Amino acid sequence: MNIFTSPEELHAWSIEQKRLGRLVGLVPTMGCLHEGHLSLIREARRHADVVVVSIFVNPTQFAPNEDYAAYPRTEAEDLRLCEAEGVAAVFLPTPELMYPPDASTWVEETRLSKGYCGAQRPIHFRGVCTVVAKLFNLAAPDVAVFGQKDFQQVAVIRRMVRDLNFPIQIIRAPIVREPDGLARSSRNRYLSPEARATALSLSRSLAEAKAEVDAGERDAAKLEGEIRAKTSAAGWIPDYVTVADADTLVPLQTVRPGASVILLACRNGTLRLIDNVLL
Ligand code: PAJ
Repeated sequence: MNIFTSPEELHAWSIEQKRLGRLVGLVPTMGCLHEGHLSLIREARRHADVVVVSIFVNPTQFAPNEDYAAYPRTEAEDLRLCEAEGVAAVFLPTPELMYPPDASTWVEETRLSKGYCGAQRPIHFRGVCTVVAKLFNLAAPDVAVFGQKDFQQVAVIRRMVRDLNFPIQIIRAPIVREPDGLARSSRNRYLSPEARATALSLSRSLAEAKAEVDAGERDAAKLEGEIRAKTSAAGWIPDYVTVADADTLVPLQTVRPGASVILLACRNGTLRLIDNVLL
């Protein structure tokens, strides 16, 4: 497995892979890899001949009050997992190599990134788009895989790829959950045993709403109200609970099966979790 810290070395390697006729797959991550990330790597291997995993805790997507410094870093274990998954190259740059001190160019998606998590985190998606565009330029992938766990993130990146003509196929891989339903997340380790137990109200209430839709319910406000009541009763206060169009993220009054999603973010003290379900 190749381990590159230098952007130039990654780029030269990727261009060589393409010259050899190989399809390159990219899985961008911030490390602290878990089963969710590994599922993306496996998905990338199904669509590409060689897979690049980037591991970079991207400072520009964290606001000053957020957990950039405290974000969990488990590099040795991450490399072991990548090796075991047959990853061809890991890109592990430093912030200094990715961002010159006088960097002054941003990639900003201005519509899909405004609501939901973007409303709480105004600079977040600008940081995500900028770093992902840089990774696309460096790894020159044919396909890149992102997780449905961050539903808005995939929508924003698909829009960026369309608007800026990146010749890259974007794949959205399903959410990997714990056996009891909690969506896997690097931040789950911050949960106390009690918060871990009550956090199940998020995935459960979403699954129950989906079951109602499968049984014929179409009233978005009713579904949203039920989810709000259930998570609030468990101590998880919703930032947003919205039935939305799965492509445009525009809120819907009436569920359109096959084209809708319920997006959810909840807070419990300083903890914040997101989840979603396709309808
Ligand atoms: P990170 O949170 O490390 O997530 C990397 C990728 O793993 C994302 O596409 C995310 O959606 C996916 N992922 C996380 N948990 C998952 C789960 N339980 N099931 C399926 N996929 C899951 O998202 C980021 O990093 C960053 O914003 C990044 C795109 C790397 C840009 O810095």
